[in-house]
Amino acid sequence: MSASIINLVYIVAAVLFIFGLKMLGRAGTARRGNLLSALGMFLAVVATLVNKQIVTFEWIIIGGVIGAAIGAVAAYRVKMTSMPEMVAMFNGFGGLASLLVGWSEYHRGAGIGEISSFTMLVTMLAVLIGGITFTGSLIAYGKLSEKISGKPLQFAGQKPLNAVLLLISLACVITASMRPEDPATYGILLVGILVSLILGVLAVMPIGGADMPVVISLLNSYSGLAACAAGFVIMNNVLIVAGCLVGASGIILTQIMCKAMNRSLINVLFSGFGASSGSSGGGGPQGEANPITADDAYYILEAARSVVIVPGYGMAVAQAQHAVRELGELLEKNGCEVRYAIHPVAGRMPGHMNVLLAEANVPYEQLVEPQDVNPMMSTVDVAMVIGANDVVNPAAREDSSSPIYGMPIINVDQARTVFVLKRSLAAGFAQVENPLFFLDNTRMLFGDAKATVSSLVAQFKEE
Ligand code: TAP
Repeated sequence: MSASIINLVYIVAAVLFIFGLKMLGRAGTARRGNLLSALGMFLAVVATLVNKQIVTFEWIIIGGVIGAAIGAVAAYRVKMTSMPEMVAMFNGFGGLASLLVGWSEYHRGAGIGEISSFTMLVTMLAVLIGGITFTGSLIAYGKLSEKISGKPLQFAGQKPLNAVLLLISLACVITASMRPEDPATYGILLVGILVSLILGVLAVMPIGGADMPVVISLLNSYSGLAACAAGFVIMNNVLIVAGCLVGASGIILTQIMCKAMNRSLINVLFSGFGASSGSSGGGGPQGEANPITADDAYYILEAARSVVIVPGYGMAVAQAQHAVRELGELLEKNGCEVRYAIHPVAGRMPGHMNVLLAEANVPYEQLVEPQDVNPMMSTVDVAMVIGANDVVNPAAREDSSSPIYGMPIINVDQARTVFVLKRSLAAGFAQVENPLFFLDNTRMLFGDAKATVSSLVAQFKEE
């Protein structure tokens, strides 16, 4: 196939990526967006495989079959709640792939004595960013899956050490690019690889588990930048474009998450959020919680004219979304207005709640954002908090000593009655006590969210 046809296919693939990304921005079009992007990637892979530069397919087929099998099994078996960990892992392998492409291309270029300063520069960038992404993502995976402690691991002199390692990496990039054909450059490349792998570990270890979704999104952006650099190394246009898109969308998503938590990226990366856990800063639980049975909760819901449902991570754990949709429908049949208030960082990944509710066929029109529902919260009869905690914690609004102070929340405490469905009074992901549980208008519905909602559904059906 001629170079111009391959480039044409690459352009089509790039256009599909862009439209796919755009469609991923809305729950209603996200599935098709994903398919469109996958089709773009398929075209890009096929066009690359028919490129005449490929001399043998043996290793490509072996790698492709093994990779596709691992990817398919992992994606098929992963639980929805473990999705962020899998994304972390995939990001890490993306970084490793860029590192290996850069490394092997150095050998090829050096072998035939053809390596320019520019190629060396992008090779070093692919290798270094890829290395940081690889080990940083492995640590993020370990923290999220609780294979290693989610607590920020900090020690004296950590920031200066990281700064020195960063400076060594930059020095490696500059010196290697200035002397690409010098045999000593290979040593510099190896030092760069080692330093980047260490830097990935040391940069993510001091960040608390609660901030891992932001870190994963940032590492996703890095993996895109590494792929973009690798694209320049092998002069592959579609890899450059795809890398740029991943890099840009990753950083935008990172910013969106930081904004939703009212924190800067610098604060997320360097504050060691979560180092002192377990208190709101206001001296622990205030007062006693008021439990209520599902039977009594039913009577209050039956009389309610407006209900706002606030799902959180616990709904995902309980897989309660189908029961929640059923309850929503029964409430509506009973003449009640039902809305679902979605906090942008509810759950463990961007759009987590939207995906679950879409899976359960909750109509998109019923989903509302915090800034739209908060002003009318005092007119709401019942706010049902289903497995959410941090995103409804009034300490974020009222307690300036709280670690989450300033994070925008859904003001469920201002509703006439609040039902909180969870198993205990335990703190949420940020390990911060929640005074909501002890308010006069709050009733705790203890137990697994799916069991509780199913029991409410059963009572509505009995009537
Ligand atoms: P969390 O604050 O993590 O609270 C979830 C609650 O669900 C827990 O307190 C837990 O209480 C309850 N739960 C667990 N399993 C349950 C079950 N089977 N049935 C009923 N309840 C159950 O959740 P959230 O309010 O969604 O907040 C998300 C957190 O993640 C925030 O801290 C946010 O900043 C952080 N975060 C998220 C993102 C994204 S993109 N989503 C990004 C960065 C940070 P019990 O153990 O008592 O049941």
